[in-house]
Amino acid sequence: MTVRSIRKGDARGLSKLLSGISKEASFIYTEEPLLPEEVEKLRLHPGKQIYVLEHENALVGYCTVALGMFPENSHTAKIQSMGIMPDQQNRGCGKILLSAVIEKLKQEDKKVITLEVVDKNTPAVKLYQSLGFIEVGRIKDAFIKMGNKSDILIMSLHV
Ligand SMILES: CC(C)(COP(=O)(O)OP(=O)(O)OC[C@H]1O[C@@H](n2cnc3c(N)ncnc32)[C@H](O)[C@@H]1OP(=O)(O)O)[C@@H](O)C(=O)NCCC(=O)NCCS
Repeated sequence: MTVRSIRKGDARGLSKLLSGISKEASFIYTEEPLLPEEVEKLRLHPGKQIYVLEHENALVGYCTVALGMFPENSHTAKIQSMGIMPDQQNRGCGKILLSAVIEKLKQEDKKVITLEVVDKNTPAVKLYQSLGFIEVGRIKDAFIKMGNKSDILIMSLHV
């Protein structure tokens, strides 16, 4: 398994991955499918990073990061979203991907990494806790899906 930044030719694979993940996931935001030109725009955005987990020439996971863009927060980064293909979940892929992303951010001198997660998203919360993220805040009822309310946890990791 390899963790790498997305490349120009990944647009189609990434769109397929995102739709495969969003079909099965209950606690993520509903997003329109990404068009190849939008992937390319994101790839070239100076404040964003997109990493993928590749296995046997297929993309099985992704992680997007937003970098602090001001002098005051240039030492921070936010994990915006991540996902692993449903048939590969709960086999350690999420951990391989996110630990590699944290390592890359460390090498770029990032000191504070934050993220938000729906509190009922047990696999995601467990993954983040297992890599050292701690809950630093909770926004009550900030996520509503099919009429069901959930809290959003704010988590941070100091590296
Ligand atoms: C959240 C997600 C990225 C985790 O990736 P993963 O590859 O399944 O996770 P891993 O196999 O690396 O497991 C990480 C930890 O979570 C635990 N875990 C994984 N799936 C679990 C499940 N279904 N139930 C309980 N714990 C689970 C593992 O035991 C492991 O904990 P440990 O290190 O203490 O043993 C993946 O489930 C996913 O893509 N979900 C849908 C999209 C999503 O919710 N993204 C997160 C948005 S914030």
